[in-house]
Amino acid sequence: MQLLVLGGTVFLSRAVAAAAVARGHTVVCAARGVSGSAPERTELVVWDRDEPAPVALTARRFDAVVDVARHPSRVRAAVAALPHAHWVFVSSISAYADDATPGGTPSTLPLHEPRTDDADLSVEPEAYGPMKVACEQAVLAGAPTATVVRPGLVVGPGDPSGRYSYWPRRLSEGGRVLAPGRPDDSAQVIDVRDLAEWLVTCAEQRTGGIFDGIGPVTTLGEVLGRTGSAVGFDGELVWMPQEDLEAAGVAPWSGPDSIPLWLPRPAYDGMLAHDATPSLRAGLTVRPLEETARDTLAWLAADPAAPVTGIGREREAELLAGG
Ligand SMILES: NC(=O)c1ccc[n+]([C@@H]2O[C@H](COP(=O)([O-])OP(=O)(O)OC[C@H]3O[C@@H](n4cnc5c(N)ncnc54)[C@H](OP(=O)(O)O)[C@@H]3O)[C@@H](O)[C@H]2O)c1
Repeated sequence: MQLLVLGGTVFLSRAVAAAAVARGHTVVCAARGVSGSAPERTELVVWDRDEPAPVALTARRFDAVVDVARHPSRVRAAVAALPHAHWVFVSSISAYADDATPGGTPSTLPLHEPRTDDADLSVEPEAYGPMKVACEQAVLAGAPTATVVRPGLVVGPGDPSGRYSYWPRRLSEGGRVLAPGRPDDSAQVIDVRDLAEWLVTCAEQRTGGIFDGIGPVTTLGEVLGRTGSAVGFDGELVWMPQEDLEAAGVAPWSGPDSIPLWLPRPAYDGMLAHDATPSLRAGLTVRPLEETARDTLAWLAADPAAPVTGIGREREAELLAGG
């Protein structure tokens, strides 16, 4: 297969390019080339998607395109410039307007109204989901065949968000570890490499349809327990109820004041509790979380610049002491 990866220089799109090359496909990555490098044995075509598509791309015939864009204008332009390829569009579960209902699938959950202009996401982060909906619609309307995949929390080596990475690092350090909410709160992750392999399969098979890119639902207790056992955790998890975290001013999900992966309930009871059955039936396979945990920790150890989000040890100690 001749595969074009729009991106290919960081995290998920890079993992897609690497997986496709490993399967023997010819892979071209197209990016500005400012965020990172394309994998070995792929070709990088330099393209800023705010400019017209270069002849180096439009003159070639690709069997499939994998696209991770957020900006509707970029997706519309790319679909128009490469009209023959099967499109694998990487959307997001942020496309859904309902974060509260557990067990949802693409056929049961409502979407945001599409936002067809390109918002500045650093100013309007809430435009992300509506823009992804508009991107999806551009793909479904313009490409001859398409797979739309809406990932949940993507984790593993190379994760620029540092959210899941907080946990292998923190648990490997041992001691009393502040765990947010309740152990039976739902949780759901997908290893970047498993998602990438499946996206390549969707490109190979020209899979038609809309899917979530998620692993099976589990609990936060299970995620922290399995991550801890994989990284040799021998300390104690101290669960702090949501009300106490909120009263102490701890932020959910991500950021320097956050405990990563914690989501306020019941507003987000559904976000990490989608039904993975349709995706697993469509060929997604998932590795054990222990492997993700160990590989994430190894990546953090090997790269001192690897980002990790979340509160520091001092703040954690303060919270554990009830301060
Ligand atoms: N991480 C999660 O948990 C999560 C959850 C749900 C959905 N998702 C989705 O998963 C995908 C992640 O993709 P990703 O990891 O590859 O990272 P990304 O940040 O979405 O994509 C970055 C890629 O796009 C390229 N790029 C950025 N601006 C460009 C421009 N103006 N012109 C051309 N190329 C440009 C970058 O290279 P250059 O900067 O060098 O141009 C890089 O290769 C996204 O679609 C995201 O929305 C992620």
